[in-house]
Amino acid sequence: MAFIEIKNVFKTYAEIAGISTLALNGVTLNIEKGDFAAIAGPSGSGKTTLLNIIGALDKPTTGQIYYEGADITNISINRLADFRLHQIGFVFQAYNLINVLTALENVEYIMLLQNRPCEERTRRATELLARVGLADFMHRRPSQMSGGQQQRVAVARAIAARPKVVLADEPTANLDSKTAGELLDLMKELNKEKGVTFLFSTHDKMVMDKADKIFHVKDGSIIN
Ligand SMILES: Nc1ncnc2c1ncn2[C@@H]1O[C@H](COP(=O)(O)OP(=O)(O)OP(=O)(O)O)[C@@H](O)[C@H]1O
Ligand SMILES: [Mg+2]
Repeated sequence: MAFIEIKNVFKTYAEIAGISTLALNGVTLNIEKGDFAAIAGPSGSGKTTLLNIIGALDKPTTGQIYYEGADITNISINRLADFRLHQIGFVFQAYNLINVLTALENVEYIMLLQNRPCEERTRRATELLARVGLADFMHRRPSQMSGGQQQRVAVARAIAARPKVVLADEPTANLDSKTAGELLDLMKELNKEKGVTFLFSTHDKMVMDKADKIFHVKDGSIIN
């Protein structure tokens, strides 16, 4: 049994001005525990659509998504929110940290949603921020940090929730290539050290080269 199994997923977006879009055209792929995998492909190929479906932020038109053998395709909206909170970490292209909270509070907040004890929230957030090189930046708000620093907070936050998988949609898109390389190296270290499974999308060759496994997407299909 695969850790995460995507089986024959099609996604058609509803008509806009008379035209519907077939964004995913029968995608089948497996993610194994401990993978450091990339979804690579040009703009419009379906990467975000696929990550949103794997992350239970959106539903396929047809096809199934299994986590450790359990089909999540048809579970209710309420249970999906709970599933996401406990099983999936997200890192988006534009950080999406909470602007009024400090780095420390951003990382603590996800554990607050999970009802973790206060002492554990602070201890784990402090430890993870130090691990991503932000020991001296814990009390800064996002607007007081660089893009690369904000993205490291987003990675710490995604891991804090102890998810089964961290999904990252073009996590380096807003970073210069040196900072992008450093962020990928950090993610890879966390993958090796803590066994966190990562799946990220990219159209940057340098980022692709850091992946252990690559799924090439073209026009909504995997072409490897
Ligand atoms: N909400 C939506 N409604 C209608 N069509 C959409 C929607 N979101 C995406 N699409 C279309 O689906 C296709 C796949 O889009 P998607 O965003 O998944 O591509 P992508 O590979 O992430 O592209 P990029 O690299 O530019 O982020 C595109 O043709 C896009 O126009
Ligand atoms: Mg995208």
